[in-house]
Amino acid sequence: MADRSIRNPEPEFRMAAQTMHGLEKVLAEELLRLGAKDVETHNRAVTFTGDRGFMYKANLCLRTALRVLIPIMDFTVRNEQDLYAEIKKIPWEVYMGLEDSFAFNAKLNSARFGHSQYVAQLAKDALADRFRERTGKRPSVDTENPVLRIRLFVHGDQCSVALDSSGDSLHKRGYRDQTNLAPLNEVLAAGMVLLSGWDRTSNFVDPMCGSGTLLIEAALIAGNIPPGAYRKGFGFQRWNDFDADLWQRIHDGAMERISGNRPLILGGELSKNVARKAETNIAIADLKDEIQVMNLGFEDLPAPEGRGILIINPPYGERMDEDVDINGLYKMIGDTLKKNWAGYDAWVLTSNMEAAKHIKLTPRPKIQLFNGALDCRFMRYELYAGSRRRERPEQAAGSTE
Ligand SMILES: C[S@@+](CC[C@H](N)C(=O)[O-])C[C@H]1O[C@@H](n2cnc3c(N)ncnc32)[C@H](O)[C@@H]1O
Repeated sequence: MADRSIRNPEPEFRMAAQTMHGLEKVLAEELLRLGAKDVETHNRAVTFTGDRGFMYKANLCLRTALRVLIPIMDFTVRNEQDLYAEIKKIPWEVYMGLEDSFAFNAKLNSARFGHSQYVAQLAKDALADRFRERTGKRPSVDTENPVLRIRLFVHGDQCSVALDSSGDSLHKRGYRDQTNLAPLNEVLAAGMVLLSGWDRTSNFVDPMCGSGTLLIEAALIAGNIPPGAYRKGFGFQRWNDFDADLWQRIHDGAMERISGNRPLILGGELSKNVARKAETNIAIADLKDEIQVMNLGFEDLPAPEGRGILIINPPYGERMDEDVDINGLYKMIGDTLKKNWAGYDAWVLTSNMEAAKHIKLTPRPKIQLFNGALDCRFMRYELYAGSRRRERPEQAAGSTE
């Protein structure tokens, strides 16, 4: 067993959870609720302090994190020689054995270095040379599925080295088998549900549900089901300091906190084929009793009695359905909301702000999110039921678990 004191000089250490633009605040709230200390938000990341058990819990339970990193070294680099020498100084034998595969990923924001692949290559040579000089052998590189994935961030003359404890990105929940043309990233979908301020007991409706991502993430949130419960594994489980008993305790504790809370969760989808794909994913997630999908156009979808929210991710007219009358589709959304969904709150995510004008309702707030590379707005439309006033958006947005 390697000397843990070097990886964790204290029982607690600093970590960084990466996320998407616009989800930093909900991620920080998730972390605080899970018990993280010294939580600080940054651009597309949240840093925090916790122990090894907390690192396991963060990977299993965070809905809006893409990965959890453990920074192990920061240094100044002026040139390639510096980078090679500093990486070689890191006691890699603490983190991995000769038999363990590894890979470097580099992200650069620096005029000093041209290509991220070249920097990753240089770092790989430094690590391999350190092993070769000490043992005569070198560990092998596996860019697809390494035991140790190491991330380098170079910003100006500052380089930060971090271990990626997640392995595959945490948006890969493990419940998605079938996808339509434009599925939402699961982290984005969970973030949208949390940003909407849904109270987890009123009705939740996605009338253009596609492969069902928002419906499934909403059901996971309602039941306090860990989003990582379906994954085959996490990166840290292959590390040389993996504590299987501790992991079992963390995992069992999270599963015990699953609640029987079952709000009405309804999906609508115009395409029969796509609706079937949503049903397949829902079945894989074992949520058939929690979620109902109707193969109907939004205009024909009956509004369940009571109050609740709709989250709609309509076609944008950019990636798919180029031949549909996109303005007409958004006009139909506005007309249907006004006619059938009074008393509900509606949120729409789109990159097509021109088409969104045809909803002809005033959105407040408008939150910038990115769906892949597409610059989108997540917009709330309040649909008054008679004179009933609804919660103010500032109160609604951002309240999480
Ligand atoms: C951008 S996709 C939604 C993707 C979904 N959020 C996911 O994660 O898979 C939009 C969906 O709206 C559906 N759609 C288009 N017009 C519709 C309508 N009038 N009523 C219901 N669904 C519609 C499309 O078939 C498509 O599956």
